[in-house]
Amino acid sequence: TRHLAVPGEGPANARIMFIGEGPGRQEDLEGRPFVGRAGKFLDECLQSIDVKREQVFITNIVKCRPTDASGNWVRDRKPFTDETAACAPYLDKQIDLINPEVICTLGDTARSEIFKRFKIEDDTIGHVHGRLFLTESMRIVPLYHPAAALYDNSLRQIILIDFQNLRRVLSQSKLTNF
Ligand code: URA
Repeated sequence: TRHLAVPGEGPANARIMFIGEGPGRQEDLEGRPFVGRAGKFLDECLQSIDVKREQVFITNIVKCRPTDASGNWVRDRKPFTDETAACAPYLDKQIDLINPEVICTLGDTARSEIFKRFKIEDDTIGHVHGRLFLTESMRIVPLYHPAAALYDNSLRQIILIDFQNLRRVLSQSKLTNF
């Protein structure tokens, strides 16, 4: 029942990969990730650390907008387990091919999936946001979902501070010119 699939976008050699939950209404209409209101704030966060959107890869856990059983759009429904499982092979392949220096998860759904994939002990986004997690193969920085800032203004500052932490993580990287 989706209108357009939203596989994600960005350069194949991107050094940062952002992973959100799933497409919303605007993303479903355009076939592009994070083009709605949350996307505008994500753009602002990127700008605050002098990163251009075109330099990063942006995708989601599920590639199609979640709907209810009758096919009507549901506001902000979290993806079901079977939907996440159906999209997992695409996400796995994207991570393997792009092989970014850092994965930033946006929101708790993406954090939980990526922590599972990289065998990081589960925790809440409230505890772990903005922190760097190192695994053998990947560096992961879980972030609050940018949409959270639209509902809770105090989170806006927290998210911007977490992006400053991300900037530090990137500057510690071997490849600073991302
Ligand atoms: N929220 C998401 O999690 N992903 C998008 O692509 C847009 C909004």
